[in-house]
Formats: sequence, C-alpha cells, structure tokens
Amino acid sequence: MSAPDLKRAAAERAIPLVEDGMRLGIGTGSTAAAFIALLGERVRAGLTVTGVPTSEATRIACEREGIPLATLEELPELDLTIDGADEVDSNLRLIKGGGAALLREKIVAVASRRMVVIADASKRVETLGAFPLPVEVNLFGIGATTRAVEAAVAGAGCTGEIVRRYDASGAPVLTDGGHAILDLRLGRIPDPEALSARLWAVPGVVEHGLFLGIADAAILAASDGEAAVVS
Ligand code: A5P
Repeated sequence: MSAPDLKRAAAERAIPLVEDGMRLGIGTGSTAAAFIALLGERVRAGLTVTGVPTSEATRIACEREGIPLATLEELPELDLTIDGADEVDSNLRLIKGGGAALLREKIVAVASRRMVVIADASKRVETLGAFPLPVEVNLFGIGATTRAVEAAVAGAGCTGEIVRRYDASGAPVLTDGGHAILDLRLGRIPDPEALSARLWAVPGVVEHGLFLGIADAAILAASDGEAAVVS
C-alpha cells in the first residue's frame, strides 16, 4: 500500500468511532485530511456532528465538505478528537506539529474526553526524537528564546541542532497564532517529560510538540492491511 492509502486506511478505521451528535476535534495534516473527506461523506449521508478544527487549513477543508463547525469557545468540551501524529511511541507519547498546528491541536486534544491518533505504521517509534521536535515561540526576543531553548535541551540530556522553520518559498513559517516554529533536531529524546518541563519553563515558548499523556489510542495502518491499535 502507498503512504496515502495507509493514511486513508487509518482514517477509515477511525470513522466508526464517530457517533451521532458528537462534538468532534478535527486534526490537521494529510492523515487528518483523509479523515475529513470520509467524515464529509458521512455528514452528507445524514450523520450529525459538530467539529472544532485545529487549524485554518482544517477549517477550510471541513467547510468544503459541509461539516458543521463551532469554536472551542462555543463548545469548550469535546467528545473525541481525531488527529495525525509525526511520531508515536509505545506509551502513546507523541511528537506533533509537522504541519505547524501544534498549539491548537494540543488545546483541542486536551479539551476532548478522548483523543485518537491516526497514522501509518511508519510513525511508530521506540524512542521519540528522529522527527524534529517543533517548538512554537513568540516572535519577540526570538534570539534570546532560542538560546534558552538550547539550554533547556542540554538540561534534558539531549543534543542537536535548533533551526527556525522556513517554507518552500524561503519565508519564515508563521503559525495560525502568528508565532514562529523552531525545529529541534535531536535524533532521540531519552526523557520526553524532562524536556517538556524544561521547554515550558522558557519564557517565549508558546507550546511544544510533545503530547504526553494526552492520546488515548493510536490506529496505525500497516501495508499488510492490518491496523495496530495501541491503547
Ligand atoms: C500538524 O501540525 C501535525 O501535528 C500533523 O498532525 C502531523 O504532522 C501529521 O501529519 P501527516 O498526517 O500529514 O503525516
């Protein structure tokens, strides 16, 4: 199976989790996009849900599919969030934010009774960190913040390079919240909880892409047609 087929397979496995009347957090990225397309089909067939999108891109995709939307102000508690991930370990710890939507993704996931990750099985790792860890930072004082993030990384027993994210046109990436993204190329993160705590202690860090103790299950589609469910 190709990577898009695996993403669609994971999304298909998540669709039965959606029940009529649910308040649904809707993730960002290519796997979430496959889920949105399938959810749109169900909505047009009569399913009633209200979605809270985790990014402007997802809001636009949901509107195209005719999925009714609300804000988190209107629906502060959600039943279920379905979202992709960049890495998933066996303890359901995640790296997210490859699509720069980590802040809204984390707010929405934490506001949900249940968060289920959908991904292809290549996202499953023994140790988090091969995927660069996104850290969303305020633009004010970004140089000083970057230095403080370097110290936090070292303090958590990690080594590596920190780079600001640019898009394909060479422009600095700005998130939906107007912040910058630093990508932490660490290779491995031996103690994600320690790194998380140190990053949160840095003024200027708005959010980071370690999702710890947030996901309840992960549906990981493999090329043999099976989908491992980690929970
Ligand atoms: C968006 O910011 C991310 O957290 C995505 O959910 C993550 O990058 C997974 O994206 P894909 O489904 O495109 O691999």
